[in-house]
Amino acid sequence: MIRGLILKNRSYRRFHQEIDIKLETLRELVDLARLSGSARNAQPLKYILSCEPQRNSLIFPHLAWAGYIKGWSGPCEGERPSAYIIILGDTEISRSFGCDHGVAAQSIMLGATEKGLGGCIIASIEKEGLRKALQIPTRYEILLILALGKTKETVVIETVGPSGDIKYWRDNNGVHHVPKRLLDDIIIG
Ligand SMILES: Cc1cc2nc3c(=O)[nH]c(=O)nc-3n(C[C@H](O)[C@H](O)[C@H](O)COP(=O)(O)O)c2cc1C
Repeated sequence: MIRGLILKNRSYRRFHQEIDIKLETLRELVDLARLSGSARNAQPLKYILSCEPQRNSLIFPHLAWAGYIKGWSGPCEGERPSAYIIILGDTEISRSFGCDHGVAAQSIMLGATEKGLGGCIIASIEKEGLRKALQIPTRYEILLILALGKTKETVVIETVGPSGDIKYWRDNNGVHHVPKRLLDDIIIG
């Protein structure tokens, strides 16, 4: 089961924007993060949820999409995420957040996949612009944004070839290909 879920849990960047995601669904996903591991059990992560077009439109301009796909600056209107979960680090709880946000992000993305949704973890964020747009207090460090929606693209896994090129690409049919290194190439001892 977990292998199947992980295989399905690809990064998707185009969505059926008109299909809403309910606030309760986002709360259920954050609850999975809440129950996940945290270094020193400090639990310093906080979240901002967005599933309304007006708020979503304040978030989208501050995100960078698929750097390897040249000439594509991200999903067009109509194919944008229906919801976002912003992961913040509360500096009044901890001054560093280690891997906590990675663990939380994966829990949320797997939960979203199980619910028939998909999305993309985004670290490339124009943070000060986003902070201003959403009036996020400086107490909170902006760590990651999870873009979510009903996915509208096909993503397939490939094997990294002898050239070692790990760049993902999109073919003429719009299918997104993601090269993964071989198991024997990553287990070194
Ligand atoms: C920590 C992290 C940050 C990422 N940041 C971005 C990002 O800023 N923009 C983006 O389009 N994709 C981002 N991605 C998605 C990666 O590009 C994606 O995971 C990678 O291409 C492999 O594809 P896969 O998720 O389908 O396995 C990020 C993924 C992770 C785990």
